[in-house]
Amino acid sequence: MAGMIPQQMIDEVRQSTDIVDIVSDYVKLQPSGKHFKALSPFTQEKTPSFIVSPDRQIYKCFSSGKGGNVFTFVMEMEKVTFPEAVEILAKRSGIDTGKYIRKREEQDEKTENSLLDTLRWAARLFNRTLESEAGRQAYAYLTGTRGLEAATIRRFGLGFAPESWEHLLRAAEEDKVPMEHLTGLGLLTRHPQRNTLYDTFRNRVIFPILTIGGQVAGFGGRTLSHDPQTPKYINSPESAIFEKSKLLYGMHTAKNEIRRQETAILVEGYMDVIALNQAGLTNAVASCGTSLTRYQATILKRYTSRVLFLYDGDNAGKKSMLAGIDILLSERLTPWIVMLPGAEDPDSFIRNYGKEAFLEELESEKSSFQDFQLQCYRDSGFMDNPDTASKAISAMTRSIALIADPVQKELYLEELSKKIDLNRQTLRKVMTASSTSGRDPSREPYGSRKSDAAPEKPTSENKPLSVPERTFLEALLESTFYGNEVLDFAASHETMFHLDNPAAHATFTHLVNRFREMGDRDGHIDITSEISSIETEEARNIAFDILFRLPVNETTRPNPAEIEQHARRCLSHFLVAVKTLMLEPLQKEKQAVLGQLQSSTEKPEQKQLFTRLHDLNNQLRTLDQEVSASISTILGRE
Ligand code: UTP
Ligand code: MN
Repeated sequence: MAGMIPQQMIDEVRQSTDIVDIVSDYVKLQPSGKHFKALSPFTQEKTPSFIVSPDRQIYKCFSSGKGGNVFTFVMEMEKVTFPEAVEILAKRSGIDTGKYIRKREEQDEKTENSLLDTLRWAARLFNRTLESEAGRQAYAYLTGTRGLEAATIRRFGLGFAPESWEHLLRAAEEDKVPMEHLTGLGLLTRHPQRNTLYDTFRNRVIFPILTIGGQVAGFGGRTLSHDPQTPKYINSPESAIFEKSKLLYGMHTAKNEIRRQETAILVEGYMDVIALNQAGLTNAVASCGTSLTRYQATILKRYTSRVLFLYDGDNAGKKSMLAGIDILLSERLTPWIVMLPGAEDPDSFIRNYGKEAFLEELESEKSSFQDFQLQCYRDSGFMDNPDTASKAISAMTRSIALIADPVQKELYLEELSKKIDLNRQTLRKVMTASSTSGRDPSREPYGSRKSDAAPEKPTSENKPLSVPERTFLEALLESTFYGNEVLDFAASHETMFHLDNPAAHATFTHLVNRFREMGDRDGHIDITSEISSIETEEARNIAFDILFRLPVNETTRPNPAEIEQHARRCLSHFLVAVKTLMLEPLQKEKQAVLGQLQSSTEKPEQKQLFTRLHDLNNQLRTLDQEVSASISTILGRE
């Protein structure tokens, strides 16, 4: 896979990207000594265990065990393959990949397109169509009825799928886009009887949905038809690339503003994000019609701790916000709520009353989550009779119980006590009872809702490395900073090593093979890149873990004498580890024999065991002497 991309291109990309810069696109990094730390983007953790080392240009997540470099990070976050990650990063650093790619195409006429290429192709096609004659009516709808400016349309890459069964189909044939990609991505649908393909999106304005990194992941399409039979929106079907519950529409465009303003505005629809952005509120994202999921909350948490809910003013919007409050609170985010009047949504409000009125509305109508809850329960009559009121109160205390900060928790409790005129002791009792009894959907004042299952916790139960195995790998990895001497030795003595741990074995074999492939003994192994292409994930993680813990050289440009000294030290560590590894099986057997001897009561058996012990001791001594001799030869060699 990695072989498809020329090594020079990989190297150039790696050298021109800074992992701190890349990772900052996805998480809020905080300096911590020589490193940076953050909440892990891989897990749902509450305390930061994700560490980035700018010196080594690698990261390590201590809660999931995942580690890697810029490439693996982008692969994980964008769900892309290695070559795609290289391409994304190249584009980001403005590297002209043409000079490398062209070379590749000369060798191999038909380059295989990836699913991501196909998504990008489709987004471009929709966009071109919108801006062409075929999209005139749709363009007029967007700029007229919906009040969008040309720049806004361009910023969000909006597109159009015309009223045709084969607009995309024909274009795909012409551009030789693989049909199985288009059916897989749901852009083409197969007619069940006729077994023909036709366009899925027809007569619809297209909203490309991007990942945080800016890759096209899927599409939403709004119909231009007024036929009540036609669904207003359709979206790309769920797939590994397009998981609606894990995406926030507009996040790519909004992330830096969210971080800067320390607030995210959360809305329901595509058009809301776009309208807010055009009005200068560039920190808005949408949960794409689904109710907010835990996963989406953790994405927001990486950038800010404040979320302003701005859902539609209707009942459905209210209900979604009530559900969303607890999800945000349980991810340690503070929700604020603005209730829009009537059935307005942010987009329609701005269009109907203008930007100034909207900003005033935000200022005057912003309420705490608690005030919002209470308002909802009062409006729906829940507070009017003791039975329903007690349900409402226990729901509200449950939200308070989710607050981590003890002072805040106390203040919210006190506020609630004042507002509903119930003493704090009683409230506290309700809170303890309701937060320990767990959720009972039938007790929810606004009916039951599906709770969004949190993604399963990673279960990395890596078999621990033995101490000599770890020392062996440490020395092997570290040695590559100072030359190939250790690798050379390892390659020519490969058969001598028995690494029980499969990850250690995989790392070792990978490096030795790469060293052999290099042929030229003076070549330099780029250890971080090498590690990221180790086959098994477990091995990759172990290797990164080791690399992460290796001490960093203080001097950036050590002189030749220093290098020589470091190289020696690595080699000697390595050889000592090798010796231990070679002696280990005999040592183990010796321990076993000693154990048997202690429990043995029969004379003949004891005698046999003593003989075996004697043998083992001899073997150990001989092997030790032999290995030590060759070690001193190697180390003493000039
Ligand atoms: P709305 O029905 O509120 O639409 O759905 P809207 O965004 O206000 O659209 P306009 O203003 O009428 O054009 C809110 C969001 O829910 C998702 C879409 O993301 C939409 O923007 N949705 C809605 C769907 O995914 N599918 C649907 O059938 C409806
Ligand atoms: Mn709307």
